[in-house]
Amino acid sequence: MKILFIGDIVGSIGRQMLQDHLPKLKKKYHPDVTIVNGENAAHGKGITEKIYNNFLQWGADVITLGNHAWDKREIFDFIDNAERMARPANFPEDTPGKGIVYYKVGANTVAVINIQGRTFMPPLEDPFREVDRLIKEAKKKTSIIFIDFHAEATSEKQALGWYVDGRASAVVGTHTHVQTADERILHEGTAYITDVGMTGPYDGILGVEKSDVIRRFLTSLPVRFEVPDKGRAQLSGVIVDIDSKTGRSKSIKRITINDDHPFFD
Ligand SMILES: [Fe+2]
Ligand SMILES: [Fe+2]
Repeated sequence: MKILFIGDIVGSIGRQMLQDHLPKLKKKYHPDVTIVNGENAAHGKGITEKIYNNFLQWGADVITLGNHAWDKREIFDFIDNAERMARPANFPEDTPGKGIVYYKVGANTVAVINIQGRTFMPPLEDPFREVDRLIKEAKKKTSIIFIDFHAEATSEKQALGWYVDGRASAVVGTHTHVQTADERILHEGTAYITDVGMTGPYDGILGVEKSDVIRRFLTSLPVRFEVPDKGRAQLSGVIVDIDSKTGRSKSIKRITINDDHPFFD
């Protein structure tokens, strides 16, 4: 069971990059399931129903979110009908949407969990206790459990990875928008990477217009962040190979596409 995961799609450049490259990535890596983080898909802030549907049309199977999930008001109108979308599971109990998506492919079911960290982020329920509960629930249906841990601190991400080692097939980090080079299989078979990285503007700062971010550092004043809609693009992802019987991962490989690391078929 191969799972392709693509990190935070940022704005129109990110969406275009996904549309252009997903068919090529599928041809090269033959994933059974494709998961895309869409929290920044609408001009850096949230996701619309149209974008959600486009991602599915272009070949994504499950969409995950993060702290920007709620930035577009219309999310509240469609999230409860968006069967293939997971928002961070550790929001309060009555929050719209769901934190786990079960996706059927052939004879297998993949459980996709989206969960958010608490270190240097807005307070939410404990992601460690919540992930225990969700893994227990998912195990009743499948041994293939894929976790997008949307978190800031590298330590919190490593801790969650080791905490679920042998209980989940993969823990991939998102949110920092910078890909880390620490992909590995943990002792009991959980594939792990601290951050997958982002998909969108290549010459910005974490996907934002660089002059805006520099100005904020220089002035310490509030600056409105714009997401470029022109310029060079990047795509960041991982491909994870999982033994579908045991749920243990066999390999995890980083995918980086930009002008310094061009895509080869
Ligand atoms: Fe993000
Ligand atoms: Fe985020």
